[in-house]
Amino acid sequence: MLKDEYGRVVTNLRIAVTNRCNLQCFYCHKEGEKNPGEEISADRIIEIARAFRELGVRKLKITGGEPLLRKDILDIIQNLPDFEEISMTTNGILLEKYADELKECGLSRVNVSLDTLNAEKYRWITKVGDVEKVIRGIEKSCEVGLTPVKVNMLVMKGVNENEVEELLSFTNSFNDNHIRAILQVIELVPFPGFEKYFFDISAIEEEYAKISTQRRIRAMHRRIQYFTPKGVIEFVKPMDNTAFCMHCNRMRVTSDGKLKPCLLRDYAVTIDGKHGEELKKAIIETVRKREPYFKG
Ligand code: 5AD
Repeated sequence: MLKDEYGRVVTNLRIAVTNRCNLQCFYCHKEGEKNPGEEISADRIIEIARAFRELGVRKLKITGGEPLLRKDILDIIQNLPDFEEISMTTNGILLEKYADELKECGLSRVNVSLDTLNAEKYRWITKVGDVEKVIRGIEKSCEVGLTPVKVNMLVMKGVNENEVEELLSFTNSFNDNHIRAILQVIELVPFPGFEKYFFDISAIEEEYAKISTQRRIRAMHRRIQYFTPKGVIEFVKPMDNTAFCMHCNRMRVTSDGKLKPCLLRDYAVTIDGKHGEELKKAIIETVRKREPYFKG
């Protein structure tokens, strides 16, 4: 079991398989990567995933950049060890094309970033994106069973704070008796220069808490999922949130193959050239030294 000195057990791994992206969202934190080196190889991704799996990690998320830009993405997914769940965070632009094969290769589900349904606003946020492609990608994912699809909506002040209801109604349109889609409302991590877009999502959360008929508290970050007549909705508030950090169960691997214990901290640990027991030892040691970013 991977555990740090705060008693936090690492159950989830995120691997950034590339730092390349086909969108240019102005707010993007690039998974905390500053000057990434050479892109990690498919074999190395699988080797690292296997080491974490053997150390007890249960869930894996493939992230980027945009993971679907990797030509070998299907190979990678097919050759990963068995996890309880393998999911992918994608912007959805190439998802319609890949959903079928991703499912066949063993992907469990997808998280799709979609901040607005308005085509012009989507283009403004992403500089180059076509929202219709993303919508078709989500539809296809629901159809082939990459579910529950989580729609990630990042809330930005003055941009889309009034669109939560519309996006929830969109995600809920895929649900009948089954939950195929869930809306995740995400608070902006305001990197220097983007403070003016920060919007506190607490008030929105309270609104939906009031009309919820059922709740589920998730182990990850103690996030609450609300089941409401309008659909299933979840809120992610990382900033100044000590509970969020105290219940953080994840480790990251950067697109150049380093271990990164915290998105908000600048450091990453090199594990180049380490294999087998030596690799595992480096992972155990890096986890042991994890520190919550926001402490009580
Ligand atoms: N703040 C919060 N979340 C962010 N993401 C990217 N940049 C930021 C930021 N500054 C998240 C969004 C997006 C995913 C790929 O990364 O949730 O959907």
